[in-house]
Amino acid sequence: MARFTLPRDLYHGKGSLETLKTLEGKRAMVCVGGGSMKRAGFLDRACDYLEEAGMEVQLIEGIEADPSVETVEKGAKAMLKFQPDWIVAMGGGSPIDAAKAMWIKYEYPDITFADMCKVFGLPQLRKKAHFCAIPSTSGTATEVTSFSIITDYSKGIKYPIADFEITPDIAIVDPELAETMPAKLVAHTGMDALTHAIEAFVSTANCDYTDALALYAIRMIGKNLVGSFKGDKEMRDKMHNAQCLAGMAFSNALLGINHSMAHKTGAAFADGHLIHGAANAMYLPKVIRYNAKDKTVAERYAIIADDLKLGGNTVTEKIDLLIAYVRNKCDELNMPHCIKNYGPGGLPAEQGFVTEAEFLKKLPEIAVNAIGDACTGSNPRQPSPEEMERLFKCCYYDLEVDF
Ligand code: ATR
Repeated sequence: MARFTLPRDLYHGKGSLETLKTLEGKRAMVCVGGGSMKRAGFLDRACDYLEEAGMEVQLIEGIEADPSVETVEKGAKAMLKFQPDWIVAMGGGSPIDAAKAMWIKYEYPDITFADMCKVFGLPQLRKKAHFCAIPSTSGTATEVTSFSIITDYSKGIKYPIADFEITPDIAIVDPELAETMPAKLVAHTGMDALTHAIEAFVSTANCDYTDALALYAIRMIGKNLVGSFKGDKEMRDKMHNAQCLAGMAFSNALLGINHSMAHKTGAAFADGHLIHGAANAMYLPKVIRYNAKDKTVAERYAIIADDLKLGGNTVTEKIDLLIAYVRNKCDELNMPHCIKNYGPGGLPAEQGFVTEAEFLKKLPEIAVNAIGDACTGSNPRQPSPEEMERLFKCCYYDLEVDF
């Protein structure tokens, strides 16, 4: 038996933010990031709608990108004081992910972080509050997923919390919120969404329900991502739905080593972050090649290539074309192909900020951490630590994967 879980309600389309007027409750805690939602006027609108619904509203503002354990602790304390019956998280993946973890700590103040990270091991939520998620980026799809990523900066790793308990009750997918995204954010979050859909389609936990969502999401991302990056509004709106469909797929089919590798390299290097979507985009061609050494998995990738109408007669040709397609997307979106060329802000550079010396020194530990990541279990091929190290080297130097 398998389970397929999504939010109870999903409101979508321009102006759907207004749905907040219909929530029933006494107190809403609204969680946002560093100011983008305030500047664009969405925060005020959301608060007005909630007040119109008769609720008292309090804010948790300033949630940082890649939120920390400390931010979660602080937010949970504020919730314990305010006692909200609705948590409304609005913004990119970061404030929504942080709010999900705060929610757990609010419902179970004594739960430890280690306990929260036990995969599908959370106690029942919703004894104190329900959760509404409103995304403003088109990538993480955390508004429909059972995941949250919190960073432990003291250890330099990202923890994925995974449990259907934190699948939001309501998602509001209003494309107006995504219209203010700068192009670079469109690129990074869009490639994250493409990776979600491709990994979900080849995951060992895939099923008919997730396949349909993943394949259609890939098709939509293929059609709309570059146009959205270049400023086409209709395509920007389509991408908001496409990433959400990808989220519905991977929340239920899970992911694979592409994400394991991105999680464990995101905060691992001294001079800066490897932005999650950019890391995923760099690793995707390498991971496809590695997974496709398995004949059955190769056939799954070939289905994706066929759906994208990439051509090719044999499975091998189709995989070559799929890899070229992903690399071409990176070029069109001005993203680097390998860690060595990953410059500040995720732009391509002759020599990026991760030096060869630092990379090689940290490689064995990063490889072991990536294998231990929650996403590795559903990857269609299980790498040994040696293989994971070799794979990372291919991702650093942009080498062909031949094992
Ligand atoms: P994600 O996890 O979805 O990739 P994030 O980490 O939540 O994104 O946010 C990354 C950056 O994008 C943040 O600087 C965020 O700004 P705020 O923290 O001020 O909210 C910014 N951002 C998110 N949505 C945006 C939007 N619609 N327009 C402009 N900037 C946005």
